[in-house]
Amino acid sequence: MTTDRAAAKPRIVLDCDPGLDDAIAILTAAHHGRLVGITTVNGNVGIEHTTHNALITAQVAGLDVEVHRGAARPLIAPTMDAARIHGATGLGDVALGELRRSVASDDAVAFLCDTARSVDDLHLVAVGPLTNVALALRRDPDLRSRLAGLTIMGGGAHAGNVTPVAEFNVWADPEAAAIVFREAAPVTMVGLDVTHKVLLGGSEASRMRSAGTPASRFAAGLLEYAYDRCREFGLEAAPVHDATAIIAVTHPHLFRRSSHPVTVELHGEHTRGMTVTDVRPPAAIAAEPAPPAHDVVWDADAQAVIDLIVEAVVSA
Ligand code: RIB
Ligand code: CA
Repeated sequence: MTTDRAAAKPRIVLDCDPGLDDAIAILTAAHHGRLVGITTVNGNVGIEHTTHNALITAQVAGLDVEVHRGAARPLIAPTMDAARIHGATGLGDVALGELRRSVASDDAVAFLCDTARSVDDLHLVAVGPLTNVALALRRDPDLRSRLAGLTIMGGGAHAGNVTPVAEFNVWADPEAAAIVFREAAPVTMVGLDVTHKVLLGGSEASRMRSAGTPASRFAAGLLEYAYDRCREFGLEAAPVHDATAIIAVTHPHLFRRSSHPVTVELHGEHTRGMTVTDVRPPAAIAAEPAPPAHDVVWDADAQAVIDLIVEAVVSA
């Protein structure tokens, strides 16, 4: 029997590129949501690593969830990675042990389309480059209408990380992001504007490590690696981007958001991959052919979000 609390948890399919923070997002989605499935995409590291990392994360946490392998390359952009942040294999220097699981399929796009048709009240949360989501939209143009919500960790109205104005997930496959923003409105954009305010550091890693479970020790190792990299950039803690996007779905009241047209820049020499967010008053743009509007997330009760992420890890 489903308890009332379990029934209230949103159904989530997570598209990800594990990735240190993606792995913590898997644990967060499994605890605070009902994790229906995981799809993997090329991003932080190559598809074989992101897929292996999704499988090993589910294995370490004892999650009964399928993993489906997705796109190995961006639609058009050259293949880039973020190994300098996430490590050569994508999960830092954490000892992973033997993998005893395999993928449920090599067709993440089919899984996304089939699940959107068959599962009611489903939230698609994409926390890597949007290649799979764009391909799913090509296969099923009505995909967005079948979903209760489409939330991405990506972009930023007034922030960038891989360039002064572009965030990695959008920058790594901007053509895919452009398709998603143009054809799957409304997208809830959990971008750097808010994720740069949700920072986990040594105290959170200690809380995770002291829980003493395989999953909490695993996550503590990921976080410790992440904020060691961040300290090289002068930061004292690590933004846990992807898990923040999960909490934006499971605990939306903790976030401040507003609706704005967003388009993805594809051609600018210095701005390719920028999520151009029109914050002008609606009356000022009423006469213009406005692009679709999306829910841009600006701010959060950061400590509450941090505590929910730690809760998920120590409960895994
Ligand atoms: O820019 C942050 C995003 O890029 C996160 O999803 C992180 O995992 C990397 O993929
Ligand atoms: Ca990611």
